[in-house]
Order: sequence, then C-alpha cells, then structure tokens
Amino acid sequence: MGSINIKSICCIGAGYVGGPTMAVIADNCPEIKITIVDLNKERIVLWNSNDLNKIPVFEPGLKEIIKKVRNKNLFFSTDVPNAISNADMIFISVNTPTKTKGIGAGRASDISWVEACTRQVAEYAIGETIVVEKSTIPVKTAEAIRSILMSCSKEDDQTKTSFSVLSNPEFLAEGTAINDLQNPDRILIGGDDQGSIDALKNIYLNWVPENQVITTNLWSSELSKLIANAFLAQRISSINSISALCEVTGANIEEVKKAIGLDSRIGSKFLNAGPGFGGSCFKKDLLNLTYLCEHFGLPEVSKYWEQVISINNWQQYRIYKTVINKLFGNVNKKKIVILGFSFKSDTNDTRESPAILICKNLLNEGANLFIHDPKVKKSQVEFELRNVGIDNNLNWIFTEKLEGIFDNADAILVLTEWGIYKEINWKSVNKVLRNPSWLFDTRRIIDPDIVNDYEFNFWQVGRGNDL
Ligand code: NAD
Ligand code: UDX
Repeated sequence: MGSINIKSICCIGAGYVGGPTMAVIADNCPEIKITIVDLNKERIVLWNSNDLNKIPVFEPGLKEIIKKVRNKNLFFSTDVPNAISNADMIFISVNTPTKTKGIGAGRASDISWVEACTRQVAEYAIGETIVVEKSTIPVKTAEAIRSILMSCSKEDDQTKTSFSVLSNPEFLAEGTAINDLQNPDRILIGGDDQGSIDALKNIYLNWVPENQVITTNLWSSELSKLIANAFLAQRISSINSISALCEVTGANIEEVKKAIGLDSRIGSKFLNAGPGFGGSCFKKDLLNLTYLCEHFGLPEVSKYWEQVISINNWQQYRIYKTVINKLFGNVNKKKIVILGFSFKSDTNDTRESPAILICKNLLNEGANLFIHDPKVKKSQVEFELRNVGIDNNLNWIFTEKLEGIFDNADAILVLTEWGIYKEINWKSVNKVLRNPSWLFDTRRIIDPDIVNDYEFNFWQVGRGNDL
C-alpha cells in the first residue's frame, strides 16, 4: 500500500484495552474519527452513559478523557458492519482467553473471537484497509488473519478491497493505563508493508517521540508481547519465592529487594512481594507461551516457564495456609475481613485476582468473610466466587463501606494495596477486634512499627522475625 492518511478508525472490542487505548488516540488525534464497537450491548450502553461514573472500566483519568472526546471524535456503537465499512484502519482488541476445551485446553489461547471479527472485517470492509492486531495473540496469528482476509477479498471494481495486517501489541497495565498510553516506554509495530506501518506510526507520532516507536517483523512483534509479560511475571514469582525464604530465615524481603534492586542490571521495579500476580494477562500469556514452546518442539523451554505459574499458585495457597495455621488451624465460624478483591489497586478488574482462590479456600474451611473493595461491585464478587464453585448462600457478605466492618473480627487480611487501606487507623481498629486477633498484610502496606505498638498479632509477607 502507498502512503495512507488515516481518517477513520474502527476498534472491535470495547474492553479494558479498546476503551482506554482509543480514548487516548482520540484525544491526541482530533482529526481522526474513531468508533469502538462491541457485541456486548450492555457494555456499549454503559460507555455511552451520561453518568461518567458508570463507564464500565475504572481507570484514573479515563472519565475525564471520555468526557472530552465522546461524541466529538470518539463513538461507541454496536453497529459492527457499519463501523468496519467506514474505517481505513481496524484495531482488533477482543478477548483472547485460555481455551477451555479441545486441543490445548487449559493452556492455548482461544482465538475464536479474533477469527470471528476477522471474518466480519473480510465481509464488510471497503477499499484499502489496514487491520491491526491489538489483542495479545499466539505468534503466527497474523498468518491466520491474513489468509481469512485474502480468501474473502472482493474483486469486483465497485467494492475492490485490499488488506494489510500489522501487529501492534498493547503494553498498558491496568490502574495506570492512561499514563502508560500517554507516555509509553515504547510503541511496537510489526509488519511488512511500509505504507501501512507508516500510517500507524504517524498516528502515534502525534504524541510519542519517534525514537520510541520501533518496528519489527510481524512474528517478533507478536512474540515480544508474550515475552514481555513472561519476564514481568517471572520477576514476581522470583521475589515471591524468596519472600518465603525470608520468612523462615529472619531476612526481610523489603531489605533484600532494596539491596538487589540497586544493582542497575536488576533494577528496582516489579520486585514487590505479594499474594501472587493476578489480572487477565500474566497467567493466560504464560500458559500460551508454554503451549507454544511445546508445539514448536521445545519441551525444556516450556517446563522452565511453567515454573513461574507453579510458584504463583503456591504463593496464593501458602497465604491461605498461613492464615489457617495462625488461627490455631481452625477458622470455622470465625470472622475474617478481606480488604480488597481487585487484582491490584486502581482497577475494578477482578480477573484472576488472588482474592478469588484465597476467599474460596477460607470459605470452604467454614470462615465468615466480610469482603470490602472500593471499586468492585458485589455482583462481580458473586460472579467470581460462583465460578470457583462457591454458592451465594455460603457465609460471605460484601460491603462498600469500612465502617463497622472490623467489629469482633478474628482476623483482617489485606489482599489489595488500595490507598484507603493505608489510611486506616489501626489503633482504633484494634479496640473492636476479638482477641486474640490477627492482621495479615500480603501487600506490605502497613508499617510494622506502628501496629506492633498496638499489640496486634501481625504477619506480613516476606518479613521474617529476627532470629
Ligand atoms: P475485555 O474482555 O475487557 O474486552 C474485549 C471485548 O471484546 C469484550 O467487551 C467483548 O464483548 C468484545 N468482543 C469479543 N468478540 C467480539 C466481536 N466479534 N465483535 C465485537 N466485539 C467483540 O478484554 P481486554 O482486557 O480489553 O483485552 C483484550 C485483549 O488485549 C486481550 O487479547 C488481552 O490479552 C490484551 N491485553 C489486555 C491488557 C489488559 O490490561 N487488560 C493489556 C494488554 C493487552
Ligand atoms: C500486565 C502487564 O504489566 C502489562 O504490560 C500488560 O500489557 C498486561 O498485563 P496488568 O496485569 O494490568 O498488566 O498489571 P501489572 O501491574 O502488571 O500487575 C499484574 C499483577 O502482578 C497484579 O496482580 C499485581 O499486584 C502483581 N504485581 C505487580 C506484584 O505482585 N508485584 C509487583 O512488583 C508488580
């Protein structure tokens, strides 16, 4: 394709990636009309809601941008065919979860949603159309997309259509998505058609410095996304494995983190010990990576990365076990307050949140859980717990308020590092607990010196008692 000036974009998928990503493009490129489409009508209604507190994705800074650009150059719609027909560039930003059945079940990524929307693109696109993979997909997916598009290219003069396919993975993290999109470390574009690459690059150059936009072949770009997530997840499993060693040796993970992080070859980021990584990406992408390695005849490589997932599962399990052990091996009918259900702070996303398995295990031991989260809805907690076999009548309640939640509690378990939990006055909380009571801090947000003064039984991940 020759030089192409993009005037109209369609993004298929109005989720955690499609919504924020297109909002930031719309904000930086007022001359481009962007339509985000989704099959999920309810989601589109919420994106169009007059009350900006109802938009379906909570991200700091997002509602302010939506207020600025919605119905100016950013539109949300369920009319997929029309948005495709009118677009010069189409982003595929649909979900790619782990397959649940058939070959590769439990490991390979399910690209059926990518395939379904590619078929719609093939059917409805008109003229020269650039298709951009925004979803995280297995390496070589562009080949499948291409062959679907090519087999459907229209030949007659009136609707003459041609396609080119680019890979442009998204590196935003939830909770910091707007800042990550406004100030990305890099933009990665994979492809082999220079005109299309330049067209996409020119969009980003509206706000990203040129030296931060890198281009590669399609396969390097597709693979780099999986590898970036694998390396990040690996750091978390590494530090979490060492948190357990700290606890039994009297070392303190915070001190170890500082000591190793100051080595410029290691660096200080992504070294926070916690309840294990959650979120919709790390586990899914690692599973996909291990599956791909095996598929391409590399079982040793597959086993190496499998271990990152095993340690993550183990970390969640060992936190639950620690709670049980500290409460004399019995939590039956004991009141445990769960602080935080989202997989990290500043998001309402609960996918793969460590809270899910930890709550499930405690409920199965007979505990009464009082679950709090400032942004997650009760229906979402219900949905996640039902998915792991917990029926709604089991002993848990959800509350959006902290008032009264600690009364007569046997234990408090901090699972998400929300800012409001850092403001809690532990001295007054201590007065209303049932004695002896425990405070478990899996996110290391509480200063041990402060709570020690209040004679709490206090446990913090990675903090060994001096021997
Ligand atoms: P999501 O589930 O929040 O959103 C996907 C949306 O696509 C859903 O609303 C769904 O209804 C819609 N959809 C599916 N098939 C469709 C079709 N044929 N036509 C129209 N709409 C359709 O998912 P997400 O978190 O936004 O992730 C999307 C992709 O981006 C995934 O591949 C993910 O791995 C990747 N990714 C996610 C993140 C993240 O932080 N969530 C970061 C980087 C990359
Ligand atoms: C991740 C990647 O960071 C992002 O680049 C990719 O595009 C999508 O997946 P996300 O899952 O949204 O982003 O959040 P992230 O900040 O990576 O955190 C993932 C999980 O790791 C969270 O549960 C978080 O609490 C945990 N984590 C993160 C730690 O336990 N310790 C850390 O030091 C960092």
